[in-house]
Amino acid sequence: MTSGGPPIDTNCMSLTRFTLAEQKKIPHASGDLTQLLVCIQTAVKAISSAVRKAGIAKLFGMAGDVNVQGEEVKKLDVLANDLFINMLSSSYTTCLLVSEENKTVIEVERERQGKYVVCFDPLDGSSNIDCLVSIGSIFSIYSRKSTDTDPNVNDALQPGNSIVAAGYALYGSATMMVISTGNGVNGFMLDPSIGEFVLTDPNMTIKERGKIYSLNEGYANLWDPAVSEFVKGKKEKKAGARYIGSMVADVHRTIKYGGIFMYPATADAPKGKLRLLYECNPMAFLVQQAGGKATTGKMPILDIMPTDIHQRTPIFLGSAGDVQDIIDLYKKHGL
Ligand code: AHM
Ligand code: MG
Repeated sequence: MTSGGPPIDTNCMSLTRFTLAEQKKIPHASGDLTQLLVCIQTAVKAISSAVRKAGIAKLFGMAGDVNVQGEEVKKLDVLANDLFINMLSSSYTTCLLVSEENKTVIEVERERQGKYVVCFDPLDGSSNIDCLVSIGSIFSIYSRKSTDTDPNVNDALQPGNSIVAAGYALYGSATMMVISTGNGVNGFMLDPSIGEFVLTDPNMTIKERGKIYSLNEGYANLWDPAVSEFVKGKKEKKAGARYIGSMVADVHRTIKYGGIFMYPATADAPKGKLRLLYECNPMAFLVQQAGGKATTGKMPILDIMPTDIHQRTPIFLGSAGDVQDIIDLYKKHGL
């Protein structure tokens, strides 16, 4: 009789192994990006562990702080932010960090500086923490434009088209990391038995059209006519409506099942809600790498030249055909 339990894969494709293999394809690559992604993985594993035992570890509730967006900061947000900052600044690969939770850029101390700029939302979907709905982390990685001066805010104000790598971690029914280094999109599930992210979703692509539309319909009275007409059309076709309220979970479903995710402008928030540098750009990069599209309605998200590290933008992303429909409606309405 053999011993019970599933066999261990003795040749599994871990995220680190995968990144090393990708690195080897680029002649003279320094290995810094691989090192950086290893450090992000450590932060994500620790956040995942904290998310899973949050109630027991008494991590729920307010930390008594208010973040730069004027929102209440929860204990898990603080922990996730500390983990990202500590792991990134000790990776010897970064010089400047932009976090949703920090008003200004964080300059890494000189002795530990490397060439990369990382923008991140350490724990997105914070309104979903206390009710155990999926939350996530989002990040994008850029190279410094010039090394003539000390790193400064201008190094972070680069358009999404300059992204070197981006990804997200989803703390859902399992923990997953989805990453692109500009060569397609790959998904890795955390195998808790070995503490490694293992390739489960190679070469992720978004179907040309999907049946699902996703946005907060509570703001319907505040939409512009293009969004109203688009949603009306979806209802006429009996499309499926899904909205989790955690961008990572909504985008992950959009990549897996197809369809469109939207956070449009509203009459009271003409720039929408979601932040360009650490929410919209990384997601737009991933979606485009998967064959989809991402737009403000008027221009590609990745073409926006940022002027402020916390600036917001309306966003529509997902299946190329569905996103093209909204672009066409913006043109039709002269918006
Ligand atoms: P957060 O950074 O405070 O968590 O806010 C971002 C979240 C996104 O995950 C989600 O898409 C959106 O806010 C939901 O906002 P709303 O409640 O207005 O629909
Ligand atoms: Mg956020």
